[in-house]
Amino acid sequence: MTRAAYDDIADWYESEFLAHQRRGGEAREFADSIGIDRALVDLLGPGTGTCLEVGCGTGVYAERVRALGRQAIGVDISGRMLRYAAERLPTAQGDATRLPFGSGAVDAVIGVMIHSDMPAFGEVVDEIGRVLRPGGVFVHVGVHPCFIGAFADRSEPTRSVIRPGYLDERWTPAVGPTRGGVGVSGQVRHRVGAAHYTLATLLNTIARAGLQFVEAAEGGAPTPTTFSVRALKPASG
Ligand SMILES: C[S@@+](CC[C@H](N)C(=O)[O-])C[C@H]1O[C@@H](n2cnc3c(N)ncnc32)[C@H](O)[C@@H]1O
Repeated sequence: MTRAAYDDIADWYESEFLAHQRRGGEAREFADSIGIDRALVDLLGPGTGTCLEVGCGTGVYAERVRALGRQAIGVDISGRMLRYAAERLPTAQGDATRLPFGSGAVDAVIGVMIHSDMPAFGEVVDEIGRVLRPGGVFVHVGVHPCFIGAFADRSEPTRSVIRPGYLDERWTPAVGPTRGGVGVSGQVRHRVGAAHYTLATLLNTIARAGLQFVEAAEGGAPTPTTFSVRALKPASG
């Protein structure tokens, strides 16, 4: 396995980025201000059985998943991110395009802030569809494709500027850390680069994996930062 991009930033991601992102937000019961925890509660919801987090990183959502009654497990390609995650949930190191699980083996899957790291996100969602049991739920939580990306300038708190480029689904390379704040996602993307998919591509990716769209949510204000989807693998028969 090649060295993962997040191996180089795992310590910063855990101690600075996540500490900033999860310092308090839209409602007292939710730790973040951009709608991730709310999306997990509203779109994943209570349940039983295994819930696999694909691209679990340092595993900060395991507690939320367990609070919903589910058994949290995680997969990530970065060994250094998994060192932190191992204190929070059972994990496996692996590539999301070849998940180390049998077909129909897991009851639910979540992917939190991962599509921007995955140039082959279509293959990843196909894999998620494979490992989910019939009737199982997939919750995607990602940056909002319409308002976050190389085309979106959100550096000023009072306005967001959308430049041409939304339709350009290219990979934006890392440019290295910048000075200043930790930011919602900018500082991560400066360090590791970013994939961008349009809203239509994201929804079509889920549909083409054989998953049925159920519900969507947007988080963060006044301009949304996250876009989330609940989809189901159809029950067989
Ligand atoms: C932005 S981080 C999100 C981590 C965690 N879900 C969170 O929200 O804190 C993206 C994660 O996806 C992982 N990742 C990227 N490509 C991957 C792949 N092909 N297979 C598995 N994990 C991958 C990275 O190592 C990183 O931990």
